[in-house]
Amino acid sequence: MEVKKICVVGAGNMGHQISLAAALAGYQVTCTDINEEILNKAKKFVETYLPERVAKGKLTEEAAAKAKENLTFTLSLEEACKDVDFVIEAVIEKLDVKRELFKKLDELTPPHAILATNSSYIVSSKIADVTKRPEKVLNMHFFNPALVMKLVEVVKGPHVADETAEVTMEVARKMGKVPVLLQKEIYGFLVNRILAAIKAEAFYLYEIGIADYKDIDTAVELGLGHPMGPFRLMDLTGIDLTYYVEMERYRESRDPAMKPSPTVVEKFVKGEWGRKVGKGFYDYTQEKK
Ligand code: 3HC
Repeated sequence: MEVKKICVVGAGNMGHQISLAAALAGYQVTCTDINEEILNKAKKFVETYLPERVAKGKLTEEAAAKAKENLTFTLSLEEACKDVDFVIEAVIEKLDVKRELFKKLDELTPPHAILATNSSYIVSSKIADVTKRPEKVLNMHFFNPALVMKLVEVVKGPHVADETAEVTMEVARKMGKVPVLLQKEIYGFLVNRILAAIKAEAFYLYEIGIADYKDIDTAVELGLGHPMGPFRLMDLTGIDLTYYVEMERYRESRDPAMKPSPTVVEKFVKGEWGRKVGKGFYDYTQEKK
């Protein structure tokens, strides 16, 4: 199966960069969102990012123009799904929202289309059963910032056809990514499970007053060579995402130890969701355009 046209549902933190990465790779991409403001922000990002890459000498004018031509934005899910071969869902991390959306995607896309979810944690078998094509529903998990991060996790749940996983790996490769295949499903996949262990320890040390979050970040950055410590990273990926993911994990496990930490709840309630709102653990208001 050859993939030519991709629909990305959700133009937020992940969706807009996944859309642009796919457009830069030569795919015809339609990015859709129900929120006009988010869609406009995504369009604006593309309009500033591409000329900046050209000015930096990282992209030719022709490649930038082609990518711009390849990428369209629409508020209409129906329009975005027309004639697509591949869908990447990147909406809010809530199972009921994703299930509702996949039901619609199943109705609106051609029967051959693969329906991938970029969920950070939720395995595709929790979603695939709402469609008539479970063998074509899988996890394709990108990392933030998606234009930069090379890794893509492709997760082969028990319902997923070999061809679906192979085509998805190929799409990732064409986007310049390095896919890794998980032979079995597991909640949180590889990276986010490892990251969760780091975050849990970081919160523990912070909340019992062993060190300030800035010093914990410095320790992880300079002591382990991570590009960002766990708090700085949460600001990048979104504290709202951390909250939703941890609530889902708690709902799933019913284990009180899995509940979001008091610090995450406090930040979530205050609306201090990280970089995208200008404030999380750190202040970004000076950086905002
Ligand atoms: N969007 C697009 N491109 C960006 C970017 C952004 N938000 N931030 C940085 N870049 C690009 C820059 O343009 C630059 O590109 P170039 O080298 O080709 O010119 C390159 O990245 C390096 O940028 P900077 O020199 O400004 O900054 P850094 O060297 O500090 O790199 C970083 C920034 C790439 C974000 C780096 O700090 C990093 O790798 N951080 C860790 C990111 C990470 O761990 N992500 C995974 C999170 S977990 C996740 O995503 C799971 C999900 O389920 C939530």
